[in-house]
Amino acid sequence: MINHTIQDALNEQIKHELESAYLYLSMAAYFESVNLQGFAHWMRLQHQEETAHGMKLFNYLQDRGGRVRLQAIEQPKTDFSSSLEVFEQALKHEQKVTALINGLYDLAIRENDHATQIHLQWFITEQVEEEKNAQDVVDKLKMAADHPGALFLLDQQLASRMGEAE
Ligand code: FEO
Repeated sequence: MINHTIQDALNEQIKHELESAYLYLSMAAYFESVNLQGFAHWMRLQHQEETAHGMKLFNYLQDRGGRVRLQAIEQPKTDFSSSLEVFEQALKHEQKVTALINGLYDLAIRENDHATQIHLQWFITEQVEEEKNAQDVVDKLKMAADHPGALFLLDQQLASRMGEAE
């Protein structure tokens, strides 16, 4: 049986993961509205990944005999001024999630909850990848600057991103 402090913190993190999913879906919608289908594809896959992260915690909490209580998630930002702005926000968002996961891990240590520590190690590793993926696109967008040709090529490159299960 999981203790209440950890249970509440995991419920909070489920919310953050689903909030991330919602944010990336909103970013996908933005990219589709400006006809950048490759960027939109990247964001749609990211939405799926975040939903999977939320479900990973959801299932873990159930497996530990805890009680999942879904919380309200905020409306995501819907309008952006450029592709670079979107990816800079995605990167900032991932940095925030990394801090949340680290805080959760610290809590699991303080609460002496070994199983939760082990479960969270997957998320700690995943966050390295998440930040790197967003940073890569930010760097490329900065290199592309305002050259439409470079943006077009990057859009094509992002269209080939594969999902986790592919
Ligand atoms: Fe689930 Fe992108 O962190």
